[in-house]
Amino acid sequence: MPDKQPILLLGAGGHCRSCMDVIEQEGRFAVAGIIDRPDSAPQGDLFGCRIIGTDDDLAALRSRFQHALITVGQLGSPAVRIRLFERVRALGFAMPVVVSPKAYVSPHATVAEGTIVMHGAIVNAAARVGRNCILNSACLVEHDAIVGDYCHVSTGAIINGGSGLGERSFLGSHATMVHGVQTSPGLFFKAGQLVRSDRDGRPGKG
Ligand SMILES: CC(C)(COP(=O)(O)OP(=O)(O)OC[C@H]1O[C@@H](n2cnc3c(N)ncnc32)[C@H](O)[C@@H]1OP(=O)(O)O)[C@@H](O)C(=O)NCCC(=O)NCCS
Repeated sequence: MPDKQPILLLGAGGHCRSCMDVIEQEGRFAVAGIIDRPDSAPQGDLFGCRIIGTDDDLAALRSRFQHALITVGQLGSPAVRIRLFERVRALGFAMPVVVSPKAYVSPHATVAEGTIVMHGAIVNAAARVGRNCILNSACLVEHDAIVGDYCHVSTGAIINGGSGLGERSFLGSHATMVHGVQTSPGLFFKAGQLVRSDRDGRPGKG
């Protein structure tokens, strides 16, 4: 088996711990270190992996590491995840797609850089998922559906066939988009919401 490649994780909260579990199960990468917020004192560890710096250290770390993944969660605004993604990309890090071996991604679907597909998620045929998204545990992106860049599809949410979730959106836990609905960018759909149009959401916070 080839050696695991080192990867840096940006964000040291609860979502990071879930991501670490997926990375461990996938087996392609070894977490080489975790990066925390600039206002934090970089110390401690998560599951035995050290917090080795803050966002301010990214440029220096680039010479030692090639791969990075954004592991800040996205409950309110996607702004932090977008800012970090752009910074990491500008520094030339590669941002892989990480897929749990307990998820299913159709070979006829596409998933863009920096997106994580967590345990039990399904991405069906001809679906297209944008960059830097979270497809959280047990969500379903059905055939021909589109998930825009920088979205969080929460645990157990369903995007039915041919639907499109606009970029920078949050689809809450167990929310369901009906077949073929298209939503505008930057919306927040609460947990359990039935989504038939933009009117079922509210403006996101940036
Ligand atoms: C709609 C909902 C937020 C209402 O709960 P509430 O406690 O009455 O909501 P509040 O208005 O106090 O907001 C709670 C948090 O929700 C988020 N939120 C609420 N409205 C939002 C909006 N329009 N845009 C972005 N985030 C929003 C924020 O994170 C907010 O935190 P803040 O206090 O820092 O702004 C809640 O029912 C819900 O759906 N939560 C999402 C749960 C979920 O799906 N989690 C994902 C797990 S993977």
